[in-house]
Amino acid sequence: MTTTPQYVTESGSDALADKARDHLWMHFTRHSTYFEGHHVPIITKGEGAYVWDDQGNKYFDGLSGLFTVQAGHGRHELADAAAKQAKELAFFPIWSYAHPQAILLAERLAHMAPGDLNRVFFTTGGGEAVETAWKLAKQFFKLTGKGTKHKVISRAVAYHGTPQGALSITGIPDAKIPFEPLVPGGVKVPNTNYYRAPEEFQGDEKAFGLWAANRIAEAIEFEGPDSVAAVFVEPVQNSGGCFPPPPGYLERVREICDEYDVLMVADETITAFGRIGDYFAVNRFGITPDIITCAKGMTSGYSPLGAMIASDRLFEPFKNGTTSFLHGYTWGGHPVSAAVAMANLDIFEREGLNENVQNNEGNFRRTLEKLTDLPIVGDVRGAGYFYGIELVKDKKTKETFSGEEAERLLRGFLSKALFDSGLYCRADDRGDPVIQLAPPLIIGQPEFDEIEQKLRSVLTSALEIL
Ligand SMILES: Cc1ncc(COP(=O)(O)O)c(C=O)c1O
Repeated sequence: MTTTPQYVTESGSDALADKARDHLWMHFTRHSTYFEGHHVPIITKGEGAYVWDDQGNKYFDGLSGLFTVQAGHGRHELADAAAKQAKELAFFPIWSYAHPQAILLAERLAHMAPGDLNRVFFTTGGGEAVETAWKLAKQFFKLTGKGTKHKVISRAVAYHGTPQGALSITGIPDAKIPFEPLVPGGVKVPNTNYYRAPEEFQGDEKAFGLWAANRIAEAIEFEGPDSVAAVFVEPVQNSGGCFPPPPGYLERVREICDEYDVLMVADETITAFGRIGDYFAVNRFGITPDIITCAKGMTSGYSPLGAMIASDRLFEPFKNGTTSFLHGYTWGGHPVSAAVAMANLDIFEREGLNENVQNNEGNFRRTLEKLTDLPIVGDVRGAGYFYGIELVKDKKTKETFSGEEAERLLRGFLSKALFDSGLYCRADDRGDPVIQLAPPLIIGQPEFDEIEQKLRSVLTSALEIL
């Protein structure tokens, strides 16, 4: 389908793209690209699993925007919920006051969360939720007589957001170095990249999981159990390319946290709200953490919202006397966002989005696995509607690309070629080079095939530039 480009001037220059180049500071963006003559890609419209740019080109949204648009684009119902709420009560803070949508959403999230995770603290996004969880862990231990517990353990290559605390928890050196010194106390342990597991564990994923989990115990011992407040893990780690938890891994992490009285925080900024086929991935894996952090898919991206969901135990000391959690955000639990989240969760229930993921995830995996016949595809891994495809130089030896080759492959070719082919997804090299996929939860086999065909064509061409 083509639409009339609305932003092209008579001289043929793309007016909006020029304004973007001159005034918009895009996030995590190398702006030099746009001063070298490339036009800023401008997305103007979305419908279902597709988006269109200002030139009328259509793209499959293989990343749900940024892991957010679970219910798909163009849902009038969500726009209407926002408009209705804005007309009724556009804004009121939840600082000592409440409003109906925040209350109802908190109750609904508490019912969806496992165990006694009954207390919901709203933020506007995932990084703020992570920041909030760390602050809560520190204050909780101060209030309960273990005030020296303040450090946080997290995993190599994991991304947990950009506030300075969340950045300390993040395990990507390049994302941190420009902003150091960060909040002290961030300790890193191995992630669960089974494809790159030490040789001795090849063929025994469970043993690898146990080994990786035990590195957390080792780090706690090394740092001193009295100094460690929390362990942050994504149930399926995004950065590095979708590392699922090996069997028994999360269970062992839970055990270690209990043993050392360290809080287990599941950062579900990406994995919650259907991405792994349940409202929370921890439900699917049968684990009850002490805290869940979430955001993105809660509103399917129609309005910003995040949350930290804490257990009753963690809230207990805040019930008493003059104690309060001295922390908050003006926009946290915004009435419009909360109303949109409620309407979004109605869609989840009515259309069975979690069930759609559960019923189709095997087909999604099998379809993507067809790509393993290409010499450049080393590994296809993930869960639910959340996959990473690791690209390698030599499939037999698993040799990866040098920094310069990865730069040429990902930035020099793949990102643009994938987009030009009509597939919006992510080519990422925060760990080894991967292509990341997280499509809207409404899709099925025809779209899986479309993704596979587009990837096949572009990855085949990539072989020629190497
Ligand atoms: C696991 C995880 N935590 C935290 C964040 C930060 O979320 P936000 O960008 O909403 O602050 C992200 C963002 O992608 C994430 O993937």
